Amino acid sequence: MIEIRAVSKSFETGKNVTQALSGVDLMIEKGSFHGLLGVNGAGKTTLIKIICGLLSLDSGQVRINGIDITKNPKAVRRILGFCNPDNMGLYLRLNAEENLKFFSSLYGVSPRVAYRRINALLGFFGLEKSRKKLVKDFSTGMKAKLRLAKALIHNPDVLLLDEPTSGIDYFSAQDIYILLKGINEELGTTILYTSHHLKEIEELCQKVSIIHKGKILLEGSISELNRQIRKTEVVKIKLKGDSVHFKKQIRPLPYILDIQEEITNSDNSDDIVSFKLLVPDASSAISQIIEKFGKEELVGIWPEECGLEDVLKITMGWGDLCAS
Ligand SMILES: Nc1ncnc2c1ncn2[C@@H]1O[C@H](COP(=O)(O)OP(=O)(O)OP(=O)(O)O)[C@@H](O)[C@H]1O
Ligand SMILES: [Mg+2]
Repeated sequence: MIEIRAVSKSFETGKNVTQALSGVDLMIEKGSFHGLLGVNGAGKTTLIKIICGLLSLDSGQVRINGIDITKNPKAVRRILGFCNPDNMGLYLRLNAEENLKFFSSLYGVSPRVAYRRINALLGFFGLEKSRKKLVKDFSTGMKAKLRLAKALIHNPDVLLLDEPTSGIDYFSAQDIYILLKGINEELGTTILYTSHHLKEIEELCQKVSIIHKGKILLEGSISELNRQIRKTEVVKIKLKGDSVHFKKQIRPLPYILDIQEEITNSDNSDDIVSFKLLVPDASSAISQIIEKFGKEELVGIWPEECGLEDVLKITMGWGDLCAS
């Protein structure tokens, strides 16, 4: 279980102060697979680095399985595995095997068990032939795999994974999803996971928190998030003609909350443009759009489910409104 209470953190660089986290409260239940979602600079990495002790907090409290991270960092280290997208935590001048040996002894794993786990993890990640290669000579994806292996080496109770599949190829990523799901379901490992691949979050996470400008704005399962923003629906339209002209006509309509042009390669005709509209009520928006555009222009219109990307966009819009 991860308990985060009123955590704030700012960075001072010269005369500039960045408030990276402002009073973050987050409760992650034991055995939960929890996604942390937010745009660049939202505060995800700062929060994860605080939880794993790589950064100090300005105020607030973090407890992992009941242990306060500032009072007993050693005890926390043994039950926590983490991987960050920068290479913090990997020794570039050691080879892969030496890195894993070093971390297994740091985490108190016996040499016999460590030997077995190192072989299993290097095998799983397809790194057995590179076990003697210096990490500085690894490719981006190989380093990402080794960071994950390092995070898993001591079978931690809690895993903090910050963009773990960044740089990892599609096929290996699929294997990693299966591995992480298995670890979560069978061993009951608590996982906090960040990613910019929303499909990955949808596929893996039971709960999601949305962080924006250092504050948690919304939290819940994906269906709960959808319900919380249920006043918004999605309508897709296809029109024949010039996209700039259509955007100018659609944007000011009173029932349109947002309009996004979609890039599709399924239309043979060059002058067909597709838009996704966020609206308060799909059926009334559809009838009003049908009234506005004639048959010559309107090629298709249909309602769609709100996806996680819509939830993220709408929530960030609320956050900006509240802050202004
Ligand atoms: N060491 C630092 N010094 C100064 N500012 C920092 C430092 N680390 C982070 N920040 C700032 O804190 C804010 C949050 O950054 P953070 O890295 O936590 O974002 P993030 O959500 O992980 O973004 P991304 O999706 O790009 O990884 C940003 O404004 C960033 O510039
Ligand atoms: Mg980050």
